[in-house]
Amino acid sequence: MHEQHPPYSPEARELRPSRIRIPYLQKLKQQGRKWVMLTSYDMYTAAIFEEAGIPVLLVGDSASNNVFGNQTTLDVTVDELLPLVRAVSKSTQSALVIADLPFGSYQASPEQCFQTAVRFFKEAGAHAVKLEGGLEMVPQVEKLTRSGIPVMAHIGFTPQMEHQLGGYRVQGRGADAKRLIAEAKALETAGAFAILMEMIPEEVGRLITESVKVPTVGIGAGRHCDAQVLVWQDMAGLRSGQLPRFAKQYCDIRSMLLQAAQAFAQEVDNHDFPTMGHSF
Ligand code: KIV
Repeated sequence: MHEQHPPYSPEARELRPSRIRIPYLQKLKQQGRKWVMLTSYDMYTAAIFEEAGIPVLLVGDSASNNVFGNQTTLDVTVDELLPLVRAVSKSTQSALVIADLPFGSYQASPEQCFQTAVRFFKEAGAHAVKLEGGLEMVPQVEKLTRSGIPVMAHIGFTPQMEHQLGGYRVQGRGADAKRLIAEAKALETAGAFAILMEMIPEEVGRLITESVKVPTVGIGAGRHCDAQVLVWQDMAGLRSGQLPRFAKQYCDIRSMLLQAAQAFAQEVDNHDFPTMGHSF
């Protein structure tokens, strides 16, 4: 524990830059301060999360199965994600807004990756992009960072490769840990400003966090990462069904919405709404 104000307290907020930029996140790592990232796909959550002091918002390809009704992240397209990124960046003043590059929009070549990232910058106001993959993504990360586009790398379990990986499985167990550490270092050298690590053993998360100078962001990567990320619908309890083991639910917004919708229907049925006060 540290004696400074928690990063999200009003006191600390005074000290934060008016626009969250990459050097600030790197300074937090040097100071041993933890930070968080949340997904956001619309204007209201973006504004609320920014008000809460969340420094980084990710418009994840998880919109595929959290907004668009698909089963996996594979289906979502660049054209579907662009308006969501635009809504989040237009609704925030200080948060760093990261656009997730969807499956098929960057793997073919560094040039394809660059063209897609440019669309998210020019057409939607993104400040950085995220892409999934290890050593094979080094040329893409080099191309983007040399062109002035900050990249968050994403290693470990990479949902866009779920069919190749044989489903949702923890990565980097046993001897495979070395591969992940090498990937993280190579992506840092290529210019990635942060490394997101999904579903890897805690010890591997610690080793990677200690091996790179850039911040690590964990989701199912244990306690030692520099930052943590959650999908907001998991964090706030919007979705039904069992949560993944790595997620934590901080409120039960689904029950609140359910009750509100039922109360509305009930009041109309009872002739209790609208009243004179709601009428012209
Ligand atoms: O798209 C997404 O939500 C992600 C998570 C791992 C945070 O990439």
